[in-house]
Amino acid sequence: MKLGRTLMASGLILAGIFLMSGCGSADEPAAESDHHADDGHHDAAMGHIHVDPPAEFASLVNPFAGDAEAIAAGKEIFETNCVTCHGPEGHGDGPASAGLDPMPANLGDGEMMGMMDDAYLFWRVSKGGAMEPFNSAMPTWELVLSEEARWQVVSYVRTLSGHSH
Ligand code: HEC
Repeated sequence: MKLGRTLMASGLILAGIFLMSGCGSADEPAAESDHHADDGHHDAAMGHIHVDPPAEFASLVNPFAGDAEAIAAGKEIFETNCVTCHGPEGHGDGPASAGLDPMPANLGDGEMMGMMDDAYLFWRVSKGGAMEPFNSAMPTWELVLSEEARWQVVSYVRTLSGHSH
């Protein structure tokens, strides 16, 4: 069931990307019927694949949300580990972003960031992109950064778009 939804979500998004890029090959959209009320995360207009985090992440709460010290610590973590791909302002334009497919997410995009909660961001930072449906170069930061550091960087990432929820 979970896998079915995930595949469905990527199908919808792929169809959306094709539409957006004018590629026009849209033979997937039959999936519409399994649409869930919370499918804001799967909105193709964002250009990035979003699926619901696994249960063990879904209910986590950022212990540092809005905390100035954590944000300052997170800024240093971001500058050391993330700007190479995501760019100094998180726009996805760091020097190591060239040639990546998919591209690093634009973490300064307020509309996109407003659709993701901190539990989702913490999951993505912890586990990275080496899995379905992401298949991206986003590293698995739980191998490198402590849990505290990952929440701190999530808190900082929030400030890049002015969204804090
Ligand atoms: C090697 C390049 C690279 C580095 C370094 C990197 N990222 Fe990423 N990141 C990506 C790519 C590519 C994506 C888009 C694909 C995806 O969502 O997996 C991404 C996606 C994300 C997302 C998910 C956004 C979304 O829309 O779902 C978050 C959050 C994120 N990165 C945060 C970070 C943070 C925080 C760091 C530093 C601790 C970091 N990234 C370092 C490449 C990188």
